[in-house]
Amino acid sequence: MEFIKVTPQYQNHIALIELNRPKELNALNLQLMGELRDALKMLDAEDSVRVIVLTGNEKAFAAGADIKQMAGKSAIDMYLVDQFSTWDQIKKTKKPLIAAVSGFALGGGCELAMTCDMIIASETAKFGQPEIKIGVMPGAGGTQRLTKAIGKAKAMEMVLTGKFISAEEAERYGLVNRVVPVALYLEETMKLAKEIAEMSPIATRLAKEAVNRSFETSLEEGLQFERKNFYLLFASEDQKEGMNAFIEKRKADFKGR
Ligand code: CAA
Repeated sequence: MEFIKVTPQYQNHIALIELNRPKELNALNLQLMGELRDALKMLDAEDSVRVIVLTGNEKAFAAGADIKQMAGKSAIDMYLVDQFSTWDQIKKTKKPLIAAVSGFALGGGCELAMTCDMIIASETAKFGQPEIKIGVMPGAGGTQRLTKAIGKAKAMEMVLTGKFISAEEAERYGLVNRVVPVALYLEETMKLAKEIAEMSPIATRLAKEAVNRSFETSLEEGLQFERKNFYLLFASEDQKEGMNAFIEKRKADFKGR
């Protein structure tokens, strides 16, 4: 892996992926995105990993798709390269995926953070969809996910003006879970990851699926989907362990079976 660093057991049951193209502010070229797709697929299949954290560095989570790589391309080149099929694969990650964002999360960087299930932001984080300033528009979900996250008025303004919002605004609008001091953003993300890693991995996976389904379907269909996942969990040993542990007043020891 040239442009990402993967630590499968960064902490117990928690994997860390660091975007690692610092000179280019982690601009998301095709190779980096391919590496990220492959790493997520590998970690998703690894039993000992229960939660995945994705981060950049203090200055940049990612400053967007690689403009230099795209600048000379034709529409047909873009169509044939089909870069967004990589993004479709990333979206299929089954385990909880948390973004730890500091500095720039712009264009594809903001879209990548929004593809994750939750975002912890450092107080220096800046979110934006500045594609309009270079004559294009978001292409990796920005118009959809941002609108769903923060509502039409704010999303429209960000997409049509390209202006950035601060971490504090992002928290106020509901884009991020919380804002923490820059020195602590990875540590705080790890705390959240640890909390989730202590739950039943099957339950977290099916619960994630159900929450995500709410974006894709009607309320009635979503409720049916939720119900089936709920019933399905009664086939797991973790459900017996969790409920017995409650009754016996002890901490549950979930195995992911
Ligand atoms: N693509 C390629 N290279 C990038 C890049 C990007 N998205 N963002 C930054 N870089 C490169 C710069 O070209 C520069 O390289 P050189 O030193 O070789 O010139 C290096 O990273 C450092 O960047 P700056 O010197 O510009 O740093 P700065 O602190 O002055 O500014 C910034 C930071 C405001 C983030 C500025 O770099 C910037 O505006 N970047 C582009 C942001 C952007 O437009 N993103 C959207 C891309 S399109 C997209 O993402 C489409 C999609 O939906 C998938």
